[in-house]
Amino acid sequence: MAVIKSNFAIEEGIYQMEVAWTGDVTPGQFFMLRAWDRDPLLSRPFCVHDYDPESGTLTFLYQVKGKGTKLMSELGPMDAIQLDGPHGNGFPDVKSNLVVVGGGMGIAPLLYAVRDFKAKHKRKKVRVYLGYSFESYGVEPFNDVADDVIVNIGGIITEKVEVKRGETVFGCGPNVMMRALADAVPPKHPVYLSLEKRMACGMGVCLGCSVKTVDGNKQVCADGPVFERDELIWEGGL
Ligand SMILES: Cc1cc2nc3c(=O)[nH]c(=O)nc-3n(C[C@H](O)[C@H](O)[C@H](O)COP(=O)(O)OP(=O)(O)OC[C@H]3O[C@@H](n4cnc5c(N)ncnc54)[C@H](O)[C@@H]3O)c2cc1C
Ligand code: FES
Repeated sequence: MAVIKSNFAIEEGIYQMEVAWTGDVTPGQFFMLRAWDRDPLLSRPFCVHDYDPESGTLTFLYQVKGKGTKLMSELGPMDAIQLDGPHGNGFPDVKSNLVVVGGGMGIAPLLYAVRDFKAKHKRKKVRVYLGYSFESYGVEPFNDVADDVIVNIGGIITEKVEVKRGETVFGCGPNVMMRALADAVPPKHPVYLSLEKRMACGMGVCLGCSVKTVDGNKQVCADGPVFERDELIWEGGL
């Protein structure tokens, strides 16, 4: 069990939860969270939004969707929450300049990805594109760590994305947006996409989160959630 430090709405239906935790976590990895006894049956997956090892603070950014996230939103400081993880394979450590593209709640894993990248590669540049359907949220922390932040509301963010020579792309958002990003970026640039699938076990056992890849079916929870663009077979839907 971990202890919640804070949990509050940053926008209607969008919450930020800080939890006391220390350990090693790679940007893009996720935890299975549970703040209830039997109902809902399954824990819920959430990626790491931010992590500060000095203060031992792990931050999640989440949207209230159904029963699990509603229960999470009702928790307060000093309440307990079950954290299982980190799980999965996160974003790789790349040496080039970086372009980061997030859509809606897909912004969640990208803040820690940018922070970690800038900490490791101080001279490298990061340009961030954040796309929202209606209202923007969670933009400010990106302004603090990235070199450039482009926000788009109501449009198609993948149409705004510019990728320059030698840049690598990280993306997270709805799978349809990930496909559009995969199609939009010229083949010479490496593209790493964090995918979303409904999960049950979260550790590669139930095979409920399969995606088709050039090496056969893989599990988003255990083999991903981050995949290189060229691994994925999009035909027929992920
Ligand atoms: C690896 C991973 C990381 C995630 N990280 C985050 C995060 O950082 N922040 C965040 O807000 N959400 C994240 N999610 C999604 C989050 O896990 C779900 O929104 C959550 O499980 C919903 O639980 P619930 O009980 O509130 O809703 P439920 O009652 O389970 O579902 C409510 C609605 O949401 C839909 N839904 C539930 N789970 C998913 C899913 N995985 N993909 C698409 N639709 C879904 C259902 O179809 C249903 O319509 C992540 C999902 C994965 C797989
Ligand atoms: S959620 Fe069970 S294998 Fe991925």
